[in-house]
Amino acid sequence: MKKNILLGVCGGVAAYKSAELVRLLRREGFEVRVMMTAAATRFVGSLTFQALSGHPVATDLLDAGQESAMGHIHLARWADRILIAPATANFMARLTQGMVDDILTAVCLAARAPPVLVPAMNSAMWLNPATQANREIIESRGIRLLGPGRGELACGESGEGRMLEPEEILNRLRELSPTGPLQGRSALVTAGPTREPLDPVRFISNRSSGKMGYALAEALQAAGASVTLVSGPVSLAPPPGVERVRVETALEMYDAVFARIDQAPLDLFVACAAVADYRPAEVSAGKIKKNDANMTLSLTRNPDILTEVAALPADRRPCCVGFAAETGDIRRLGEEKLRRKGADLLAANLVGGTQGGFEDDNNALTLLWHDGQAEKRCGDAPVADLRMDLPMMPKRELAAALVSFIEEHFFACNPSS
Ligand code: CTP
Repeated sequence: MKKNILLGVCGGVAAYKSAELVRLLRREGFEVRVMMTAAATRFVGSLTFQALSGHPVATDLLDAGQESAMGHIHLARWADRILIAPATANFMARLTQGMVDDILTAVCLAARAPPVLVPAMNSAMWLNPATQANREIIESRGIRLLGPGRGELACGESGEGRMLEPEEILNRLRELSPTGPLQGRSALVTAGPTREPLDPVRFISNRSSGKMGYALAEALQAAGASVTLVSGPVSLAPPPGVERVRVETALEMYDAVFARIDQAPLDLFVACAAVADYRPAEVSAGKIKKNDANMTLSLTRNPDILTEVAALPADRRPCCVGFAAETGDIRRLGEEKLRRKGADLLAANLVGGTQGGFEDDNNALTLLWHDGQAEKRCGDAPVADLRMDLPMMPKRELAAALVSFIEEHFFACNPSS
């Protein structure tokens, strides 16, 4: 479990519960620092939090004294986990907009890992479409919300909006920090189809539902990895705790993947998206009108994301896992694709049959890898057959089995420092 917790307190009656939360967190062995909005200090004095945390409380972004002691950038770097409790409707709105108008929003914007929010507000405010829209945006960025719960509210009403009790927050935090075998590893998963526009109303796409990629992101997160999901248009919610970047076209997916790789080296790249190999050579600004003649579309090749990531120099190259949706001889086509793309592992599956594949909840995979590739990394004895079949099962189970395979063959011998 993470050690340094930075607790942000917003202005709400529930701020009194946060004082107890600091006590519980310290008893659990966390180092705790507190930052407060100006409104929060009107509910509970900063001295209370200073005494309970054993550290000065940050309240002012523009106070030279506070910034020189431990400024917002240092606080953001110090924190293993940022917890905002209570998180008010106003804070959620400011966070959604990326505003930096107090110490809490500044730290959240400067932090590498997304904060965890514990909302507390009147139920009408919570259910208001504006707050719900902000909640959706916040969750789509991989920010976790704990609660709110239902019950009696400070305003005298009863309903949804109550801040979780400190013990429950602590329990939920324990669940949020999976101590799996991939802890400390970073992974990027591409998922879903891409859409290649022809004109403002039409596009070329495919049948990918994104279910396999989303299940893989979830399984990697459960194994302890920090996961970014670069997703084409699908109707799935991102798994909690996974940062999702939404894209439409293959070129946008390419840019999002390389932007993430440029930020910090990745340990694992899983190319699960059904990326369109071609895009219309021209995108018409207006709707294309029909006439009596047949129409011929001219298409241009899209870059191959997996091939380019796998060709990165060794110091920037993550372990690369590809997928192959085939309609023929899986083994022959898969082995050829594994070599052509330069991937470390290829998960091939049959599509177009009666069961499994694109839109289904179930699938079966044939895993193929290079001679000595996995063994070279782990120093194991070579395996006789460079192939393993994962039989038909729900995609979530299949994803967990694939993640176990990846962990055992490519990471188990080389734990992260
Ligand atoms: N892929 C990619 N970028 C592309 C095309 C594919 O990253 N522009 C990745 C997919 O995410 C998948 C793998 O390459 O992991 C194989 O995709 P697939 O569509 O099966 O292969 P293609 O390269 O398109 O080969 P073909 O169409 O000839 O079967």
